[in-house]
Amino acid sequence: MFYSPVRTNAKIVAASENLHLFRYVEDPEQVKIETFENRGGYKAWKKVLTEMSPEQVIDEVKKSGLRGRGGAGFPTGLKWSFVPKDSPKPRYLCCNADESEPGTCKDRVLMERDPHAIIEGMAIASFAIGCHLMFIYIRGEFTHCHERIEAAMKEAYAKGYLGKNIFGSGYDLDMIVHTGGGAYICGEETALLNSIEGERGMSRIRPPFPAIEGLYACPTIVNNVESLATVPHIINRGADWYKSLGTEKSTGTKIFSLSGHVNQPGNYEVELGFPLKKLIYDPEYGNGILGGKKLKGVIPGGSSTPILTPDMIDVNLDYESLTSVGSMLGSGAVIVFHEDTCIVWVILKLIHFYRHESCGKCTPCREGTGWLEQIIRRIEAGQGKPGDIEEIEDICGNILGRTVCPLGDAAVMPIQSAIKNWRDEWQYHIEHGKCLVKSEFPFGQK
Ligand SMILES: Cc1cc2nc3c(=O)[nH]c(=O)nc-3n(C[C@H](O)[C@H](O)[C@H](O)COP(=O)(O)O)c2cc1C
Ligand code: SF4
Repeated sequence: MFYSPVRTNAKIVAASENLHLFRYVEDPEQVKIETFENRGGYKAWKKVLTEMSPEQVIDEVKKSGLRGRGGAGFPTGLKWSFVPKDSPKPRYLCCNADESEPGTCKDRVLMERDPHAIIEGMAIASFAIGCHLMFIYIRGEFTHCHERIEAAMKEAYAKGYLGKNIFGSGYDLDMIVHTGGGAYICGEETALLNSIEGERGMSRIRPPFPAIEGLYACPTIVNNVESLATVPHIINRGADWYKSLGTEKSTGTKIFSLSGHVNQPGNYEVELGFPLKKLIYDPEYGNGILGGKKLKGVIPGGSSTPILTPDMIDVNLDYESLTSVGSMLGSGAVIVFHEDTCIVWVILKLIHFYRHESCGKCTPCREGTGWLEQIIRRIEAGQGKPGDIEEIEDICGNILGRTVCPLGDAAVMPIQSAIKNWRDEWQYHIEHGKCLVKSEFPFGQK
């Protein structure tokens, strides 16, 4: 039984082998190792172990242009190359399956429906960096994913894809499944490492970066589920094939989690550079705005990214295009809201989340998110005061770029964009003590 709705657009999947990540996820048999193998699974892992050197694997991934799908978009092969080759310490790989960014629900589908693809990607990445013990850190609430990954791991051990002397290569690789406790901050890579070590999930000051000093002070690579699940396809089909998808600088495909006021929410795998408007309005994808209402705004890359207005959505979904309109691709969670949504209400929900999830290590984030929530909650309740907007802007300015980890920036970027783009609505809320738009409670809840 599957718990998450997944819309992969059957027609497109059938017509194009290039949408590799979701190619088989509609088939419940895909979770079984035999089905996975019959479809070419673990072929890349064998190829890497028997025909390639770690340097060749890193070069192929570098050449493919793959960028991390966890949010920051850092080039994956380049990150792997930072692990020192001469370090006498063990090296570790951690697959980041914490997936807690509001709106993001793509990694969950991969874990539930194609768990071996993730394990194969993790194994190849481990080989590339010389790691013999790899971890997957799964969001605590994702019990079903946890079960699926554990079951797949057992199958992989039983078939000799993990363990000692894999395929007689002399290479040993073990895997540990670790579940989180449901804290968003534990998706931040250094807090994740602390959490695996049994410490409180708090971000670490960098440098040193994890590639030099990560888990147990050893060289460590942290990669997102989607990034790692992509790697076997690059090894099997080559960097040139991967580069032929997407745009010149944003290569490959990406899963977008579309949610909010659209007729057909779901997870859609598309080539990077896909038009945002098409994702929202095309009957094959979002199929337009709920109730035929007008669009008011779009959060394009997860709740941490600046919000777009309707006149900004003529943009393509790739790293460069979204940056050019002042936002970010982030984790690929596209959240849509329509004309009856109060922007102050939206921002209150977001800042409440960030205040609650702040790890408390640095003052601007710990205190600032609390102050922001207090002021915004007051405005939303109809008790705003003249000067509130300026105060919010001032606090945001004192958080942005001044925190230990990017959670501080993530908390303020949507607020800054919401004030810039809908300042009149904030002013109306303060002056009249109520929303400018028709509905006060757009999702039927306060
Ligand atoms: C507050 C916060 C939460 C994050 N949560 C996640 C997450 O749930 N999953 C994820 O892959 N990356 C998350 N990241 C990004 C990770 O720190 C890291 O950049 C990523 O796992 C690297 O993988 P990639 O290079 O494959 O993208 C988060 C970052 C921050 C600041
Ligand atoms: S920015 Fe926030 S979450 Fe990140 S280290 Fe500082 S207090 Fe913790």
